[in-house]
Amino acid sequence: MTYRIGYLVGSLSSTSVNRTVARALVGLAPPELELVEIGIRDLPLYSPDYDDDYPPQGRAIKEAVEASDGILFVSPEYNRSIPGALKNAIDWASRPWGTNSFARKPTGIVGASIGAIGTAVMQSSMRSVLSFLNAPQLNAPEVYLTFHPEHYADDGAGGITVTHEDTATFLRHYMSEYTAFVERVLSVTAPGHI
Ligand code: FNR
Repeated sequence: MTYRIGYLVGSLSSTSVNRTVARALVGLAPPELELVEIGIRDLPLYSPDYDDDYPPQGRAIKEAVEASDGILFVSPEYNRSIPGALKNAIDWASRPWGTNSFARKPTGIVGASIGAIGTAVMQSSMRSVLSFLNAPQLNAPEVYLTFHPEHYADDGAGGITVTHEDTATFLRHYMSEYTAFVERVLSVTAPGHI
């Protein structure tokens, strides 16, 4: 069985370390996972005024989330919270009221920073948001990654290789646990089961 996992990168930076980690995760994921990025860059700022007539970018993110078996967030922490661009994307996909696209989607959160303790507060904030959105979350393992650029290399084929064996093992383990979590959640939320 193959699971389609939509991933959202919480940074719009052209040099984003979280994007590097997300690209590395694509290569480290078990073969059952197909990771597809859900872009957030082109979304306008959400307003309820759009609810009666969502623009194409708003419809696109809802459709992409709904077409995914699970959702992975790979994000920095901004000012001890969720980056505005990512929160905006979540707000778009959660609305209009009654059509929350995240409901029952198995989610995972990964965060990388250049500092030692980064992303813990962002991840905690994300857990509140995802709880409200009725999105089951992988609770453990957690990934609070300090980014070392020398641990990542372009593989020459559009991907990223993790050259530091302990980091690769840790991230591979996370993706394997996330896959098992997706299987567990989908086995109890399959149509007709509940
Ligand atoms: C940061 N950074 C940061 N780091 C952290 O650990 N905790 C924080 O609260 C913040 N706050 C913060 C706010 C803003 C506006 C910026 C631009 C940066 C630093 C951040 O971790 C670092 O820039 C990462 O490289 C950001 O990730 P990307 O964009 O490279 O993926």
